[in-house]
Amino acid sequence: MAPQRLVVLISGRGSNLKALIDACERGEINGRVVGVISNRPDAGGLEFARARGIPEQVLNHRDYAGREPFDAALAGAIEAFEPDLVLLAGFMRILTPGFVERFTGRLLNIHPSLLPKYRGLDTHARALADGETEHGASVHFVTPKLDGGPVIMQARVPVLADDTEASLSARVQQAEHRLYPAAAGLVCSGRIQWSEPTIRYDGAPLEAPLQLDHEVTSHAPGESS
Ligand code: GRF
Repeated sequence: MAPQRLVVLISGRGSNLKALIDACERGEINGRVVGVISNRPDAGGLEFARARGIPEQVLNHRDYAGREPFDAALAGAIEAFEPDLVLLAGFMRILTPGFVERFTGRLLNIHPSLLPKYRGLDTHARALADGETEHGASVHFVTPKLDGGPVIMQARVPVLADDTEASLSARVQQAEHRLYPAAAGLVCSGRIQWSEPTIRYDGAPLEAPLQLDHEVTSHAPGESS
């Protein structure tokens, strides 16, 4: 499989963007980040992309009359980079169904919970309020249902008795920085593929999300994981 062209969409700090770029540079992902797009001009991740010499672009959603025109412009900006895969990494915008359909199968997101638990916002606070003993993050293909697409891989972390929202969030984010490259790497090598409604892993239906540090091996196609 040819090295994949990745476009990363951000709204903020960009620590997952950094993890993805680093993993590409270390050769852990069969691809490279060819463009970064932010909907916020002040997103910290833009500076990081600039420092690495990766083309970056700001598309401020406030400059558009609504979701449809913004998503149309966003789709055009993405396509200009000719991506194989589009990675949402802390991109804080709800995308229109038309946009999602246009990129179906090549659009991934990372969400800070063990989906299907805690779709939406404030996941760490909600997990703490519910007394969860385990929390984590998920990488999934994006569908029009918010945080509802099929999950490729999850990372699990313990919830400790004295955790605050900040301490739990920091633990999840550390795991995210290994999770997103691992999941994106499987897609970029062709080992993970999604043809609706089934994710295939080395050709076999993926019955449950892969677990970071558990089932991901370098086994050959056809062997069980
Ligand atoms: C991450 O926690 C991710 O799960 C969520 O937004 C956060 C982005 O952080 N979708 P960063 O901008 O990658 O540092």
